[in-house]
Amino acid sequence: MKRLEGRVALVTGGVGGVGAAVVKDFLAEGTAVIISDIRADKVDEAVAGLKAEGHAVAAAAASITDYDAFKSAVEAATGELGPVDIVVANAFVGGTSPTLDKTTPESFRQDVADNLAGTFNTVRAVIDGMKAARRGAIVVIGSVNGLTTLGQPAYSAAKAGLESLTRTMATEYGEHNIRANIICPGTVQTPAWDARIAQKPDVLDGLTKWYPLGRVATPGDIAKAVTFLASDDAGFISGVTLPVDGGLMAGNLQMARELTLEDR
Ligand SMILES: NC(=O)c1ccc[n+]([C@@H]2O[C@H](COP(=O)([O-])OP(=O)(O)OC[C@H]3O[C@@H](n4cnc5c(N)ncnc54)[C@H](O)[C@@H]3O)[C@@H](O)[C@H]2O)c1
Repeated sequence: MKRLEGRVALVTGGVGGVGAAVVKDFLAEGTAVIISDIRADKVDEAVAGLKAEGHAVAAAAASITDYDAFKSAVEAATGELGPVDIVVANAFVGGTSPTLDKTTPESFRQDVADNLAGTFNTVRAVIDGMKAARRGAIVVIGSVNGLTTLGQPAYSAAKAGLESLTRTMATEYGEHNIRANIICPGTVQTPAWDARIAQKPDVLDGLTKWYPLGRVATPGDIAKAVTFLASDDAGFISGVTLPVDGGLMAGNLQMARELTLEDR
């Protein structure tokens, strides 16, 4: 039995690393998918390829920061596939300033406002349909950067803000049988790392030592958690922050060993 049979999902950032993996898993679980992203050419390419394979997909090419354009693109796609039951707010905008000193007032405002408002816009565009249907699952993609200090302060502040926004959604929309949860990935090997890999080819290898499971995530690792939270298997889970981080947030082994004088 497919877990998401008969549903319609909206995935933003749907042609990025994590987004494309979510689309793939959702289609395998029987959902029709609206693929949304700011990169219209990539959206068209993905939709054409998946349709040719017989999948129920539709395009909604728009920026999450432009509410009116985003809403009308999504509405056109729901005309093809039906109203949205599942929304994955996965797109993220900007967020590359590594430290506070390198963050400008303008980049801070933009990163925080665009990411928070973009996720608000994403859900706002489809929430009335979910309320009318009296069912819905919202999955927001946050980051471990929202849970502890790992650089990129404006991006991290936005991700921390998304936790609060998700809790409010869970609280306000619960009476409409709509759940909202946030997944906080650790490092995921996606195109988001391309620029840093170009600067330092072994950057991801250097990060694996921080992960108790000894590796960074694949996009598929995150997609599996998204699919679970979107499905009825998670039917009584709402308002939850779920790190999907190979144990990164569980603790600091090096410090624990120093504290206990247990060296290895
Ligand atoms: N890759 C990681 O290490 C990592 C770690 C923690 C959290 N995350 C989160 O995972 C999610 C997916 O990131 P990814 O790694 O797949 O990145 P990615 O760069 O592969 O994908 C992001 C997608 O968002 C799209 N996008 C950018 N601006 C947009 C806008 N204004 N409107 C609509 N779409 C827009 C891009 O075109 C791209 O397809 C993000 O929310 C990111 O913050 C990623």
